[in-house]
Amino acid sequence: MNSVTLFFVVCLAALNGCLAADMQWYRTAQSTADRLTKQSNLKFQDDFHFDQVITINRSSTFQTIIGFGGAFTDAASFIFSKLNSTLQAQVLNMYFSDQGLRYNMARLPIGSCDFSLMNYNYDSTSGDANLTKFSIDHDKSQIIPLIKKANATILKGSGDALYIVATPWSPPNWLKENNSPYCPTDCAGGCVLKDQYRDTWALYFSKFLSAYKAEGVDIWGITIQNEPEYCPHNYEAMHFTPEAERDFLKDHLGPKLSQDHPDVNILIYDHNKDHVVNWVQTIYSDAEAAKYVWGTAIHWYTGDQFDNVNQAHNLFPNKPILATEATEAREENPANPVWGKGEHYAHDIIGDLNNWVVGWIDWNLVLDIQGGPNHKGPNNCEGPELCGFDGMLLADTDKQIIYPQVFYYYMGHFSKFLARGSVRVWSLVDNSSLECLSVLTPDSGMVVVVLNRGQDAVTFKLLDINVGGQKQALKITALPHSIQTFLY
Ligand SMILES: *[C@@H]1O[C@H](CO)[C@@H](O)[C@H](O)[C@H]1NC(C)=O
Ligand SMILES: *[C@@H]1O[C@H](CO)[C@@H](O)[C@H](O)[C@H]1NC(C)=O
Ligand SMILES: *[C@@H]1O[C@H](CO)[C@@H](O)[C@H](O)[C@H]1NC(C)=O
Ligand SMILES: *[C@@H]1O[C@H](CO)[C@@H](O)[C@H](O)[C@H]1NC(C)=O
Ligand SMILES: *[C@@H]1O[C@H](CO)[C@@H](O)[C@H](O)[C@H]1NC(C)=O
Repeated sequence: MNSVTLFFVVCLAALNGCLAADMQWYRTAQSTADRLTKQSNLKFQDDFHFDQVITINRSSTFQTIIGFGGAFTDAASFIFSKLNSTLQAQVLNMYFSDQGLRYNMARLPIGSCDFSLMNYNYDSTSGDANLTKFSIDHDKSQIIPLIKKANATILKGSGDALYIVATPWSPPNWLKENNSPYCPTDCAGGCVLKDQYRDTWALYFSKFLSAYKAEGVDIWGITIQNEPEYCPHNYEAMHFTPEAERDFLKDHLGPKLSQDHPDVNILIYDHNKDHVVNWVQTIYSDAEAAKYVWGTAIHWYTGDQFDNVNQAHNLFPNKPILATEATEAREENPANPVWGKGEHYAHDIIGDLNNWVVGWIDWNLVLDIQGGPNHKGPNNCEGPELCGFDGMLLADTDKQIIYPQVFYYYMGHFSKFLARGSVRVWSLVDNSSLECLSVLTPDSGMVVVVLNRGQDAVTFKLLDINVGGQKQALKITALPHSIQTFLY
């Protein structure tokens, strides 16, 4: 018997053993030690009957994914600077390397926000309408060095361009009616741009982009205003109605940036999913405003509201939607984190991406074990829970210990495998409470993420109707409170 004959005999005996692709998979499960841990390979076989099914149809395709990331806040950069060189390298690797989460996006505040050590801006000279005193010196000590190290880590790994979305929380006080970086008690009382400084505020964006470029950091996009409908009195904010943001964009910011920085993408809104439909209708219905805009940025603080995201897409399918901020309340015990936070992240990512969202950015990359620093507290806090927030990595800078939180691993089940350029494909969950997201990567690999938020194990059939022209399936169990990513 020659080797070719032997090959066929063995194949016939093993039935699908020769045709079926090996499937790699990774798991995180509460009841095990698995944390984004590679499992033994599996193999597909011929289809069989089983009631609980997840079906994948790669011929039915949706949006293209651009990436995942976290935020280079002042607070995160400060905590990073307090870590020794071993731990700094560890944080960079955990987020940006091929061994880590493979982040290729980030958010960057333009000036201070709540997660800053203090209030600051890039031109505090009152009346300097031409911004002759503009300077990003503040960012040169900690923020820009961290960005450069992150970028260098990515370049050694995936090689993706690092897409940074930059966002202002407030202009310098002299540009605002209420002459403060904060708001009064609510959105009334002049927490808005002074009319006479609208061109100055547009110039400020342009100068920010130029200054970063001069430092070797290209900014991919900006949002016009962080959370324009929220007006806190104890941290940086400014109010825009959708009409006011549309007009500032159309008459000032859009023309200025299309002239000075035509490659930089402009995103609108940057706030919760509850009102996203109204915002896209108001701004994109005006063609003169819409022509300057790449897409829409959303946050998650009013709940799932995936239907709103779907509707925003259906109304304006050429304007991509990007999730730009999410975080959890402060973790009381970083060494024993709450599992459900990871599940909340995964649930939102799956729901958003199944409704056309193209990327998903977490908030502060690293915080201290109080969930800070945050300059609005402690005296300005409205309650301890509002003073700090959670970070995927919490660092005890005295003891030089990093505590990865559960949602670090849950995020990794997406960010590590859904390479930029992946296209979402159709999937359907039948007869179980599992949640699923499936994509085809640029090198034609399938990635299927399956989330089980329930307390019971769920055995299901993963059915792909077209694996190399064949209907293939396998049976597998999703442990209670687990997430798994399958690659084939
Ligand atoms: C779901 O369960 C029902 C009842 O057992 C079964 O008839 C149906 O075929 C199942 N759905 C799929 C897609 O297998
Ligand atoms: C898979 O998707 C393609 C493209 O939408 C569609 O034509 C086909 O009917 C689908 N197959 C099944 C079995 O649903
Ligand atoms: C940094 O701190 C960790 C944990 O205490 C320690 O293991 C490591 O050796 C330190 N690295 C340096 C360069 O001091
Ligand atoms: C800004 O520059 C313009 C044009 O050079 C000049 O006319 C104007 O006086 C300047 N404004 C201020 C406040 O310096
Ligand atoms: C990353 O580094 C590359 C190569 O030096 C550079 O072209 C790019 O602008 C950098 N990106 C960022 C966001 O710093």
